Amino acid sequence: MKELEKFIIEGGKRLVGSIPISGAKNAALALLPAAMLADEGVCVLENLPDIDDVKVFIEIIRQLGGKVDRIGDYTFSIDSRNVSSYKCKSDDVKKMRASYYLLGAMLGKFKKAEVYYPGGCNIGVRPIDQHIKGFQALGAKVVTEHGVIKMYADRLIGSSIYLDVVSVGATINIMLAACKAEGITVIENAAKEPHVVDVANFLNSMGANIKGAGTDVIRIKGVNRLKGCTYTVIPDQIEAGTFMIAAAATCGDVTLKNVIPKHLTSITAKLVEMGVKVEEGADSVRVLGVAKPKAINLKTLPYPGFPTDLQQPMTSVLAVADGRSIVTESIFEGRFKHVDELKRMGANIKVEGRMAVIDGIPKLSGAQVCASDLRAGAALIIAGLIADGYTEVSGIRHIDRGYENIEKKLNSLGANIKRVK
Ligand code: EPZ
Repeated sequence: MKELEKFIIEGGKRLVGSIPISGAKNAALALLPAAMLADEGVCVLENLPDIDDVKVFIEIIRQLGGKVDRIGDYTFSIDSRNVSSYKCKSDDVKKMRASYYLLGAMLGKFKKAEVYYPGGCNIGVRPIDQHIKGFQALGAKVVTEHGVIKMYADRLIGSSIYLDVVSVGATINIMLAACKAEGITVIENAAKEPHVVDVANFLNSMGANIKGAGTDVIRIKGVNRLKGCTYTVIPDQIEAGTFMIAAAATCGDVTLKNVIPKHLTSITAKLVEMGVKVEEGADSVRVLGVAKPKAINLKTLPYPGFPTDLQQPMTSVLAVADGRSIVTESIFEGRFKHVDELKRMGANIKVEGRMAVIDGIPKLSGAQVCASDLRAGAALIIAGLIADGYTEVSGIRHIDRGYENIEKKLNSLGANIKRVK
């Protein structure tokens, strides 16, 4: 019973050594539904992270008639030739936000979709109006009845779509629905995250015709058929960033392997501003922490800005930085729930709307805290690593959704984290 599990963390251990970074969660959760668009052949996805959200998504694909087999430690084959149902109404769908990608995949494959409204981390309202706007622009009729989004299109016809807000989910979802539409679809004000590019590259490997991913204008020329292919998921920039922050916080010396340093530019820049040393290799980064990081100001922005998913882990190290830091969360309005838990550990943080004012203190002290969402959990683990004494983090089912064996990886670097029932 994951609900009753918690971590017991002994503070004061420096992290030293090297660990591999897993495949990107937010790429994998889009690539799995994208694989269902194949009209012929089988897709093979390599470097899928071994996390709960991926396991749930694989289950959903099986429930829809897809055949998913593990053919290697992190490699799965997805045969979607027998996917016959466009109705995704299992409880699994409600468990995570990424199930919204089933809308774009089913619409693109069947011109029909019925999907439960998505769940996911409680970090704000998280509307999907821009996704719906994109689907309607392609010709879909959309209604929401009893918590189910129902879509139907006679034909899917390419169209120009301007996103009112830079949205990773909407950008990817529209790509999924448009890659087999008739004619050209242009997405303007598109998200540029590495996982958006990863999905475009995967779809192009299947025979789609997508140009401009990674810029704010993506052009998709509809094709008739998509075929299976083999594709490797990019490394997880957020997992990497989380461990970079943990290394910095513990004044450690940690090398992360299997990363793309370019994807980590914004986190590297802020850590260097704090006095941390970061050495970039071809596919690795080495982080050397300092005893007392400097306070900084931080504002979360769409890529290539500082990622909102690393705002929470950063507040833990800023809680003991030298001076006052101002953290502005410009993406999600409810992403400071971890602050109350950090205050139990002695942090001096004032939250006003989308801004958190953090006055660094000499040391956090271990306490019983609860993770409200995935990245809040990561923040509390980092706080536990640097606190005086022991910290108990409950709600770790959130953490297992997005981090593969996080306590094993950290313990291999010298941490002392026990998972207890
Ligand atoms: C994805 O969420 C990620 N989740 C999030 O990661 C990540 O924080 C976020 O992108 C930003 O990078 C997955 O990929 C599964 P958005 P998503 O659409 O797609 C507003 C994690 O910890 N918006 O880019 O939901 C929205 O409210 C998770 O791994 C609309 O107004 O993010 C937010 O303010 C947490 N209307 C902003 O846009 C819409 O239709 C950005 O959201 C869609 C979004």
